[in-house]
Amino acid sequence: MDLPPLRPGGPKRMRRFLSLADFERAQILDLLALAQKLQDKPEPRALRGKVLGLLFLNPSLRTLASFQSGMAHLGGNSFVITPGQGTWGLETRNNVVMDGTAAEHIREALPVLASYCDALGVRAFAEGKNLLEDLSEPLFSTIDQLCDKPLINLESAMNHPAQALCDWRTLDELKIASGGKFVLTWVYHPKALPLAVPSATLHMAAMRGMEVVVLRPEGFALPPTVMGKARVAAKSSGGAVTETSDRTLALKGAHVLYAKEWGSTTHYGAPEADAKLRAELQDWCVRENWFANAFADAKLMHCLPVRRNVAVADEVLDGPRAVVQRQAFNRLVVQMAILHRMLA
Ligand code: CP
Repeated sequence: MDLPPLRPGGPKRMRRFLSLADFERAQILDLLALAQKLQDKPEPRALRGKVLGLLFLNPSLRTLASFQSGMAHLGGNSFVITPGQGTWGLETRNNVVMDGTAAEHIREALPVLASYCDALGVRAFAEGKNLLEDLSEPLFSTIDQLCDKPLINLESAMNHPAQALCDWRTLDELKIASGGKFVLTWVYHPKALPLAVPSATLHMAAMRGMEVVVLRPEGFALPPTVMGKARVAAKSSGGAVTETSDRTLALKGAHVLYAKEWGSTTHYGAPEADAKLRAELQDWCVRENWFANAFADAKLMHCLPVRRNVAVADEVLDGPRAVVQRQAFNRLVVQMAILHRMLA
């Protein structure tokens, strides 16, 4: 996946940023150190003449703005394509008769876009119909094959590595011990959302060596393959991964509560059954009293966007525990390191 080192013993030029699981822990620490270095000593000409292409098959605020901003801070340029909004609608399914609204297939469009840039970032969410299929990342695998330039995952069916990397940096900034207690909790949302962020967050915390607890109601357990992979990562980093639906038990002594909405895995691809199950779970909105038995200074993390008083209450988001703004800012910082490692 990676090219040979730029100089003997030096860091490798990165060709793919698709999942934190593709990297050794030391490589992640190296990227985080580069992010800090670029923040302390900006390099406004490092990527002069370089172009980043950004293809968004799904909406975004932070990912879109922070990658464009990061590229500009390093002296490069970027373009953004949002199919169907000023550009042709894109078909992503294989072997279909294209007699619908999409005028162009990703098989043509992606190599064309790659030929216009030095690195390409793509956001392509899960289809949300078949869990096993989404776990195998069929669309992103196709994108990977079609792209002959460095490629960045801007959120795929099961991963959001740039979010995970910024969250790791945020934990470091907060001086949360690598063995600290990290609770990833399911929170309410009116509809099923993808598993990308919870899966990436779980893996990040496991890889960081934390005591990770996944707190979720029945019917919302993360897939066994995702949990298993995280347990392996935790083992090699000195951490642990458990799961429970007992909020009091999970939050006891927690240093961090990471809130995230996701769809039922029991009723994956069945929106009516999912809706029926989640209708009873509207009290899964993080309030201050959730922290009663947590570490006194425990923090609240969320990747954003967040629905106020649905997923997290105002009293928490507007209070001293919430570090969501810092997380979002750190997207910019860590992504500059990714771009630098790919293109400088
Ligand atoms: N956290 C995150 O990826 O935000 P956006 O969906 O706004 O890009």
